[in-house]
Amino acid sequence: MTADLFDSVADAQPWREEIADGAVLLRAFVRPIESELIAAVRAIVAQSPFRRMTTPGGHLMSVAMTNCGARGWITDHTGYRYDPIDPRTGAPWPAMPPVLRDLALRAAEQGGFTGFAPDACLVNRYTPGTRLSLHQDKDELDYAAPIVSVSLGLPANFLFGGMARSDKPRRFRLVHGDVVVWGGPNRLAYHGVAPLADGEHPLLGRQRINLTFRRTQ
Ligand code: SIN
Ligand code: FE2
Repeated sequence: MTADLFDSVADAQPWREEIADGAVLLRAFVRPIESELIAAVRAIVAQSPFRRMTTPGGHLMSVAMTNCGARGWITDHTGYRYDPIDPRTGAPWPAMPPVLRDLALRAAEQGGFTGFAPDACLVNRYTPGTRLSLHQDKDELDYAAPIVSVSLGLPANFLFGGMARSDKPRRFRLVHGDVVVWGGPNRLAYHGVAPLADGEHPLLGRQRINLTFRRTQ
């Protein structure tokens, strides 16, 4: 009886919302370490700056990107891929700081994925008006590992759809500190970000920073 009561309370944590099979939204999950995260992002950007990349189709992406970890996601006229070298600096991407690795592991556990060991973290910067169209994260070799996505700065409307591009996505308003984890049957769900509304965040100003952790190989 006591155990049952305890279980139902644990299941009803207001900050943990199951949004699909294998997908959870963890509200305010990284708030306790927000200063360390922001400092870590600044150090990454000092080494490998944000840049706008070109898609294989020749479109300049509106999101500016950089990476940390053993491999980084890049796109250019030849295609999308993970690469150990930052093409801008000619050097390896900045190492993944332990505070980031640890938070990705803990968040993945909350989503039911134990032992998540990301080797790449894509850092996206959205300024007002910036959007990310619906896509699947499918440049990784092994889909057993989830995607862990951390939101910092201005709020955004995250679009989370189904397995087909034509499935109507649901909208989730993500604010500073929220984390979304998706994997299992929804690992290849289409997702994107609606155009960012203007605003001013007390810690990050007129921008949203998103970190996505991946296991690429
Ligand atoms: C992504 O799909 O890579 C980023 C998602 C986000 O910015 O919330
Ligand atoms: Fe994505």
